[in-house]
Amino acid sequence: MYINFWYPVILGEELKDEPVKVRMLGQNFVVFRDSEGNPNTLHDICIHRGASLSEGLIKKDCIQCPYHGWQFDGKGECKKIPSLGKDAEIPKRAKIDAYPTEEKYGIVFAFLGELPKSQRPPIMPIEELDDEEGWRPNYLTYEAKINYERSIENGLDAAHNEFVHPTHGHEGEDDDYKVNELKFEDSRFGVAKKWGFGFWHPFKSPGSKKEGPQIKEASEERWAGSGIVGPNQMWTYIVFNEKSEFRQYMFECPVEENHVRIFLVNMRKMMLDPAMDKPIADRCMVVAQQDIDVLEKVEPSFTPVSNTKEFLVPADEPCIRYRKLLSGWEKKGWKIDSDAVSEASGKIAYAIPSPLRKKQKGWVIDKIPLS
Ligand code: FES
Ligand SMILES: [Fe+2]
Repeated sequence: MYINFWYPVILGEELKDEPVKVRMLGQNFVVFRDSEGNPNTLHDICIHRGASLSEGLIKKDCIQCPYHGWQFDGKGECKKIPSLGKDAEIPKRAKIDAYPTEEKYGIVFAFLGELPKSQRPPIMPIEELDDEEGWRPNYLTYEAKINYERSIENGLDAAHNEFVHPTHGHEGEDDDYKVNELKFEDSRFGVAKKWGFGFWHPFKSPGSKKEGPQIKEASEERWAGSGIVGPNQMWTYIVFNEKSEFRQYMFECPVEENHVRIFLVNMRKMMLDPAMDKPIADRCMVVAQQDIDVLEKVEPSFTPVSNTKEFLVPADEPCIRYRKLLSGWEKKGWKIDSDAVSEASGKIAYAIPSPLRKKQKGWVIDKIPLS
């Protein structure tokens, strides 16, 4: 798991006027709306004596700790320490990590890391929601007890469809089946190539034989593309023809190393009737479960420490490129040392460093160990 990326926190519609505790990267956070309705994300541990802020109350623009009532605003600054008396000066060190938070595409995202704004990777854009007409979204969130890197690799894997997804009409019995040559692109959406890549390939699809929404205009030859932006954001385009296309945007949040929460925005260019939302959502979940059923049993549950510990073939090239990017981010010192964190569990509390740590000293809670 890596610091310095944007992670999906909660659906905007699920964040109302109560604070919510959200677990990400193996840590707890409190997310709440201030009086203007803006979402804020803070580390959940109160620096006074360790209470969970998400159990507290929202008081105007602050979250009030449930234990002794200290109040922290959306920037993590302590605004009130009741035990000191009404007009007491608040010590400078009384602050909590606060993370840049944005609400976009119906999802609240938090930047969990310390990079200044100019150096941050982007939130993966959903251009069809930004300005293109003629598209309709489905929002799905679901969780699985799998490692999110294995999940992303599965999404970048053109070779598994034939065997994992009978819903798409694949039966694993086509003798002529093969993965066509993958055509790579450096990036998509104008995202710098240090943050990701994409690839395209033509594929043959027999069309669905199972129940569910059918793509009537489908032709035999189709194009699919996939790619990533950062370690946890992935896009997949499935182009049936000019009129029929799915574009899926997955924002994955590692809850723990082996537990992921996935926010899937499924855009479609056909079947725009709102009555189709439910059957399409159901179908997406059936497909997601087919992947989960395989991924839950993969060993090791993490991506292996070396590619030589698996027998990779040309269709695994996207995995290889993904792993290369991950190891680059690890070399930058962004990888959380989860072993050290679990060893200290119950004894030492840690925080994901926020951007303010680059500018100010004097933090009460230790920065999470990084490898
Ligand atoms: S623990 Fe939060 S105010 Fe005391
Ligand atoms: Fe799949």
